[in-house]
Formats: sequence, structure tokens, C-alpha cells
Amino acid sequence: MSMVEMLRFRRDPLGFVEEFSRRSPSGVFRLPWGAWCVGDSELALAVLRDPAFNKGMAPFFGDLLPSRSAQVDFGHAVRNLVRARMPEYRDNMARAVAEMPAVSRWPATGTVLVYRSTADLLLYPHASPTLRSSMEQAVRVGTLIRAPHMWQRARVEMRRPKLKPAVIEEVTARRKEGIPAGEPRDLLDLLIRACPDEITSDALADLYLLMFLSIVGTVGHSVAWSLLLACLHSTPDSSWPWPADWIVREAARHRPVVWMVGRSVPRPTEFAGVPFQRGAILSVSPYLLHHDEDRWTLPGLFRPARWAEPGEHGPYLPFSTGPFTCAGAAVAQAMITDAVAALANRARLTVTGGDLRPFVTNAAICRPFALHRTTTTRWRPAHKGRR
Ligand code: HEM
Repeated sequence: MSMVEMLRFRRDPLGFVEEFSRRSPSGVFRLPWGAWCVGDSELALAVLRDPAFNKGMAPFFGDLLPSRSAQVDFGHAVRNLVRARMPEYRDNMARAVAEMPAVSRWPATGTVLVYRSTADLLLYPHASPTLRSSMEQAVRVGTLIRAPHMWQRARVEMRRPKLKPAVIEEVTARRKEGIPAGEPRDLLDLLIRACPDEITSDALADLYLLMFLSIVGTVGHSVAWSLLLACLHSTPDSSWPWPADWIVREAARHRPVVWMVGRSVPRPTEFAGVPFQRGAILSVSPYLLHHDEDRWTLPGLFRPARWAEPGEHGPYLPFSTGPFTCAGAAVAQAMITDAVAALANRARLTVTGGDLRPFVTNAAICRPFALHRTTTTRWRPAHKGRR
């Protein structure tokens, strides 16, 4: 990959990947960082669904848990906890939105709102104040998703060291004291209970931070994309013509935050006519599948109404697909939809700045924009659409 191509990728990563995919006759092409991307939709779905590429442990967890069944049980337990606390999430979100200034800076505000709405679920109110303030700081400085610019990364790296040691300290203290019987007080109680004793406090801290990132970072950035896209595609002097649910689905299609997932090749093999060594990474881009012109009508358009039209749906995998699909997909969808509905409720929303080209780091996040929120006196129901 030449320097010029690398710069082009940085400037417009999605356009770059689309162009490479179009130019590749085999449906498989090289990414700037050397991995292979499967652009053809049929082959890409095969990579995510075929047992040959999806045996054993899920890449999401790395080696943090000892077995696939431990990964599955853990994912379900976290999902159930978040689902049980959705009423509290909704109330907190409404309160956090009511306290927002008339002009807010995004995407940072997205993660702050989601954090404020889940702070007690992540860490119960009387737990370690040191850990709570480290988590707050991580959200404020944007540690959750890797920053796109060098200077931002440097700032994040300077503050990051405090967070993991604070989690380890809390895990160690709780393991020593024992977790009280009854409902888990927070995510950390659930995690300590769900994981076998042989898992180190260090690995438990990594698991906790992984879920912190999924719950706050990925959800927060998805809220940001939904707002930006809906505002850029509607008239500023009227309310949105679509239910929040369609907006969120269409935003996750048009600009999926998890824009690339990878599977490792289990043994030397030929795929789409290209020979691969064991351990080579085959990447699949939900973005490319969501923009396949043979499977979607006018995929380049942001069109929430397509979600009401039968036969309008091509491959849709913002939460991946196959055996390693996101365990929290339904609750994440509900969290984003509730946040967008709360922001739009009794308010007129417009944006300044904003760009449809994402910053691509470990996720595809939107570039900075300002949200102008004018509250209206007229009552409008929090329109969430289908579930
Ligand atoms: C917008 C928010 C979210 C997005 C876009 C997202 C996306 C994903 C994706 C793409 C994967 C699979 C990666 C792969 O195929 O290798 C995944 C895995 C996972 N996600 Fe999410 N996620 C989100 C939120 C959440 C939330 C809120 C939770 C927990 C409540 C969660 C729990 C998990 C778990 C446990 C896995 C691993 C599943 C397994 O391998 O068994 N995610 N997520």
C-alpha cells in the first residue's frame, strides 16, 4: 500500500474500501494494514456463518474466558442485567437530556449521556469513588474508542493508566469480602459471580472494561450517527418524519459503528481463488454488505422509510451474524432508540458541522458536530416505532 493510498484511506475510508471492493474480480482484496477483506456479500456471509471459520472461542473476548460456553453464559448474563435495568436507563436518559445545554458537542455528548444513564448499573452508587471518577474521566476524555489523531491519543494515553488499576483494586476487594446474596448490585458483581475463580483479577478487569466500552462507547457513538444522519436528511423547521426506531436501524445500516469484523483462517486454505496461510485474518465489512447495490435499493441514500417497506432488506449485520453475533444486539438497539427518542421528544433538532465521512479507528465514529436542541412547548409522544 503506497503512501498516497494510505492518505486516501485516511481521508475517506469507506469510499476507499468501496472502490477497492469494486475493482477486485475475486471478491477478496487487501486492506491498507495488510489484512484481507471479503467484499463479495455471499462470500462474506459464508465467512461469518461457516463453522470452519467460527469454531471455538469468539474473537470478541480474545482469551479472557476459558471456554466458549463460559463466553456464551457471560454474554447472556450481561445482556439480561442490562435488559432488567432498562426502565432505570430510560428515566436517567430523560433526566440527562433535560439537563443538556441548548448546544452540545457531539459525538462526545453521546457517550456522556449513555454513561450518565448507566453509571449505577456499571458501578453501584456506594462503590469505590476512585473507580467511579476514573470511569467518568475515561468517558470525558474519550478513552473508550481509540482517538483518531495523534495528539488526542497522547492525551488519552496519559489518563488511561488510572482506570484499569482502579478496576483491579475493586475486583480484588470484592473477591475478598464476597459478593452479597441476591440481585447483583452492578455489572462488576455479576462479572465476579459469573466468572470461575481461576480467572485472574487482571482478566476480570479487562472483561469489565470490554463491556464498559460496548455499553457506553459503541451505544453512545451509534446515538451520534443516528442524530447526525436524521438531522442532515430532514428539514430544520419541522419534526422528524420517521419513528426513532427506523432512524436507528437506517443509521446502523448507512454508517455501522463496527465497520469491520475478522475471522482467522483455521488451516492453509484457498478462498475465492486466493491461497491463505493458517492464522491469516479474513475481514468482513458490514458497511460493504449494507451498500451492496444488488441487495438493497439505492443503498447510498439514508432512507429510514425503507424499514417499513417489505422486500427492501439486504444483508444487515451491524451486530455481526453467525455463531459469534452480538449477545447484546436487542438491548443495544433499544438503548440507542430510547436515547434518540428522548432527544427528539418535545424538541427541534438541527446540526452544524458534521460530515458523513467517518473517522475510522477501532470503530467508525462520526466527526465532530454541534447539536442545537430547541425545546418546544407542544407535547409530542416519545415516538419509538416498532420493537
Ligand atoms: C451499538 C452497540 C453495539 C454494537 C454495534 C455491537 C456490535 C457487536 C459485534 C459486531 C459483535 C461481534 C463481533 C464479531 O463478529 O466478531 C459483538 C459481540 C458481542 N457484543 Fe456487542 N455491540 C453493541 C453493544 C453491546 C452491548 C450493549 C452488549 C451487552 C449488553 C454487547 C455484548 C456483546 C457480547 C457479549 C459479544 C460477544 C458475543 C459472543 O461471542 O458470544 N454488545 N457486538
